[in-house]
Amino acid sequence: MDIGNVSKPVLGIESSCDETGVAVYQPGRGLLADRLYSQIALHQEYGGVVPELASRDHVRKLLPLIRETMAAAGLDFNDLGGVAYTAGPGLVGALLVGAAAARALAWALQIPAIGVHHMEGHLLAPLLEPDPPAPPFVALLVSGGHSMLVHVAGIGRYRLLGDTLDDAAGEAFDKTAKLLGLPYPGGPALAALAEQGHAGAFRFARPMTDRPGLDFSFSGLKTQVLLAWRNSDHSETARADIARGFEDAVVETLTVKCRRALAASGARTLVVAGGVGANRRLRETLTAAATADGFRVAFPRLQFCTDNGAMIAFAGALRLMAGQHEDSTIRVLPRWDLESLPAVA
Ligand code: KG4
Ligand code: ZN
Repeated sequence: MDIGNVSKPVLGIESSCDETGVAVYQPGRGLLADRLYSQIALHQEYGGVVPELASRDHVRKLLPLIRETMAAAGLDFNDLGGVAYTAGPGLVGALLVGAAAARALAWALQIPAIGVHHMEGHLLAPLLEPDPPAPPFVALLVSGGHSMLVHVAGIGRYRLLGDTLDDAAGEAFDKTAKLLGLPYPGGPALAALAEQGHAGAFRFARPMTDRPGLDFSFSGLKTQVLLAWRNSDHSETARADIARGFEDAVVETLTVKCRRALAASGARTLVVAGGVGANRRLRETLTAAATADGFRVAFPRLQFCTDNGAMIAFAGALRLMAGQHEDSTIRVLPRWDLESLPAVA
């Protein structure tokens, strides 16, 4: 197979959960186009993602979205130099849709394709912004499925510093939102409600901040919120105040652990990514901590915190440029250890 001119545009496909994302990234030129289709409306009446419905909707939406993205980039399929797709972790059926389309396209065009780790995509998303941070840095990855602190020595050189023992930060937001009667997806709704709440009206524990270590545990917070809500007068004020108390507890916990990870690793840069990275209070608190402690903090733009095709096109392009690609087998990994990735030289 001709691995061709590696600085040609790379098509990126994200389909690991409830968002179909497609983008084109060209090394040296940057992002040429980026399109997203969200399945939120589809899953809303079930209160969460229904995997089979997600797969079917990816099947319906992916090819039109690829055509739309290519047109927006002003490209013909023959202009592509490679294809990148999310190979895991995620929902197996949803992943297979993106993987099959990407592999088929690459095979038809006789160009290389590469399966990207979804969390590496998130981790590298802040590098799509102007003045991108360079490794070494510490990454706080907070999504619906993961809460991790990672030491990044280079692209593909990841060491897990801390992980969640139970719920991920985004999952905690979603479940707590549900307890308070908010619609799916709960994270952004809970954050919006918290804006109206009063700080300190409810104070919840900051899990695992009172002992050393960088792991997280968020499931206990849910119970505290449930009890507070049950014992409240069920007014809108109480609901907003509880939301604020919850958000403050999560944000402070994450901030304590980030400071600790920076101190332990000696890194001077913090990169924040994943859906919860869109949280306004988290961004403000970490920015204030960075100013106080003298480290740099870098975030992706808001729409690249949550799932998107741009981060997959970008991560895939870096790996394709390094000569990495795989045979044409359609293979996905619903579970995939970030530390097992090969380094990009
Ligand atoms: O990264 P992402 O789009 O998908 C996964 O890889 O999981 O993250 C989605 C998660 C959801 O749990 C969602 O509720 C949460 O990110 N989220 C937020 C906010 N926006 C999205 N959580 C708190 N505040 C937000 N503004
Ligand atoms: Zn994600």
